[in-house]
Order: sequence, then C-alpha cells, then structure tokens
Amino acid sequence: MSDPVLEASGLTKIFGRRSLTPLSILRGITLKAQPGQAIGLTGPSGVGKTTLLSCLSLIDLPTSGSLRLFGSSTHDLSDRARSELRREKIGFVFQNFQLLEDLPTWLNVCIGQLVGPTPLNRLREQALKLLEVVGMERQVDCAVRQLSGGEKQRLAYTRAVIGSPDLLFADEPTSNLDTTSARFLLNQIEALLESDVCVIMATHDASLLALCDHIYELRDGTLWHRNDSAGTSAICLEE
Ligand SMILES: Nc1ncnc2c1ncn2[C@@H]1O[C@H](COP(=O)(O)OP(=O)(O)O)[C@@H](O)[C@H]1O
Ligand SMILES: [Mg+2]
Repeated sequence: MSDPVLEASGLTKIFGRRSLTPLSILRGITLKAQPGQAIGLTGPSGVGKTTLLSCLSLIDLPTSGSLRLFGSSTHDLSDRARSELRREKIGFVFQNFQLLEDLPTWLNVCIGQLVGPTPLNRLREQALKLLEVVGMERQVDCAVRQLSGGEKQRLAYTRAVIGSPDLLFADEPTSNLDTTSARFLLNQIEALLESDVCVIMATHDASLLALCDHIYELRDGTLWHRNDSAGTSAICLEE
C-alpha cells in the first residue's frame, strides 16, 4: 500500500472563551488516509466536523497532537510553508463557500493561486475551463453575489480543485445543491478518487457516503468508525 497522505494522531482542539469554560471540541483524533481513498465524517451539527477539517487541512492549528501530511510532519511549518502546501496540494470546499461576493466568478476560482507562479492570464484560462466543466460558462464574469446557492457551491468546488490537489477536503459539499447538481458533484469526486486524490468530507449525503472507504462519526471529540454494513451503529474507536 502507498504511503499515507494524512496521518493524524491525538489531535485536540480547545477553544478558549473569555470568562467561560474553554470548549474542548476535539479530544484525541486519530486518522489515516491513503491516496485514492474517500473518508466520510458524520455527526450532528456543532459536534466539530468543520473544526476537524480545518485542523487537518492546515487552515487552523490544533491545540495538541501530531499531523503528518504527504509523509512529513506539519508541526514546525512556518505560516508561509503552510500556505504553500495548501496552495500546491490541498483543496477545500467550504461549507459556507467563503467567496468574495463582489469579485467576478472566474477570479474567485483562482484567487488562492494568485500568489503562486502561474501568470494571471493562464489562471483565467484554467478557471474558464473548470467553470465550463461545471456548466457555468455563462457566469464567468458575473459578480458572485448574482449567483444562486447551487452555483456558488459549484464555484466553491472549482476553486478547490484548480490547483489539482492531492488531498481534497469538502465540508457538506452537496448541502446546497439540487439533485442534478449533487449527482454532478458526486461524479466529479468519483473521478478525483480514480485519479488517486484523497478526499475527506463531512457529509450526511448517502450517495457521497457510498463512495467512502471509511466512515467515521465524530462524537464527544473522538472518531468512531462505522464498520457495520447497515451503517447504523458506530462501535469501534479509531483504527
Ligand atoms: N473559532 C471558534 N471559537 C470558539 N468556538 C468555536 C470556534 N469555531 C467553532 N466553535 C465552536 O465549536 C463547535 C463545533 O463547531 P463546528 O466545528 O463548526 O461543528 P460542525 O461543523 O460539526 O457543525 C461549535 O460549538 C462552535 O460554536
Ligand atoms: Mg460544519
């Protein structure tokens, strides 16, 4: 088997709250993911799925624990090295899109790559190609605020994949999509998996979960592997 793309061990995340008890959201997360694998994360709203994806994708720092990505520890990376690693190898489809509403669609697609080596005209070409794939060729120059929820979701997806990531995180990526668009996204993710991209997603969408090699439920700050075929009980702690 190939080397893991991601290896998290004992990750914790505690949010300090002024004059309130600190909020301990992640209490020792252990997770391993290989190229071409899909990992599904479930759990009720507020349990910490977004927090976990943020820590695993270098958007946020865990309070403690170790995270190795692509075979190397991320512990001592500078802010700049973290950003570079994210730009070059990691994509993230945000639950709330995090788009710049006043900027045109195409620029939103490539905004994360602007500090990279690719010139702007080349990035625009790449963005246009991707937008065509997701059926948004007519919206390339529209301001994002003019787009529908489903279009924003598709845009958020194209932005996440423009850097050809080896590791894609998706936070409830079909929650704003109609059935046709959700199926389309499912096909896209399937194709990524076939080309050995590792996909880690928080979702309750049964079709997306059906793609997953492993499904975990986040509960009380730890991951529980859902390993029964009916998918109704989560019985064993992380592998
Ligand atoms: N930056 C933050 N500061 C303080 N609390 C936070 C922060 N981010 C998230 N939380 C809290 O952590 C909990 C888990 O949030 P989240 O990870 O968004 O859950 P989920 O994605 O499962 O709905 C929530 O109670 C939320 O209010
Ligand atoms: Mg969330």
